[in-house]
Amino acid sequence: MTSEQDRDRGKRAAAARALEQVREGMTIGLGTGSTAAHFVELLGERVHAGLGVRAIPTSSRTREQAARLGIKLVSFAETSRIDLTVDGADEVDAQLRLVKGGGGALLHEKIVAAASDRFVVIADAQKEVAVLGTTMPLPVEVIPFGWQVVYRKLEPLGAHPVLRMSRAGQPFLTDEGNHILDCHFGAIVEPERIAAAIAGLPGVVEHGLFLGMADEVIFGDPSGDQTHVRSRNH
Ligand code: A5P
Repeated sequence: MTSEQDRDRGKRAAAARALEQVREGMTIGLGTGSTAAHFVELLGERVHAGLGVRAIPTSSRTREQAARLGIKLVSFAETSRIDLTVDGADEVDAQLRLVKGGGGALLHEKIVAAASDRFVVIADAQKEVAVLGTTMPLPVEVIPFGWQVVYRKLEPLGAHPVLRMSRAGQPFLTDEGNHILDCHFGAIVEPERIAAAIAGLPGVVEHGLFLGMADEVIFGDPSGDQTHVRSRNH
């Protein structure tokens, strides 16, 4: 088993490699989660050293971190185009299909990724899976009204949904004030079919399957000094 410390070294190595793609003047999408936080920290160091970029964060957590580090933040009111987005993932398969949303930020993450010319995913090596759904449930963001109806409609698709709870014992709220149903599917052998079926349910805002979106995935080795890269066209 890889220790948390080893995994963290892998996350940092992947983040450092992604940083090499940042150029002066870029608008950058900032992901959410422990891996993305490494990237934001390293970007903050570059900004401190004089790099001129602006960024759009995918969550209130990332917004706070970036602001603290002095990274200039913009909104979609100022730009609708992002040069490069760097974000983590919960699972990645060989076709660069992803499960995201472990941190509950999947909606903003998907909007930002979809607005990006280039979407680079950073992950520790343990995120690589043969089949999606096998190590993590699939998060589905639902509006609070009638979430129980969506819950029941997810079951015939093969899911065992669980309403995500906060540490305080209340239903978890996303940055948009929605709930998350963590859907245990086991193996998701046909992600495209499942994604379409979930997206078609009234009350569903978004789901954590990111299909055909990642241009590149950088996996960081537990040693912290090696990465391997999978690109969409290789
Ligand atoms: C946040 O909602 C997620 O999509 C994260 O990107 C994902 O959960 C990866 O998080 P870690 O980098 O903390 O593993």
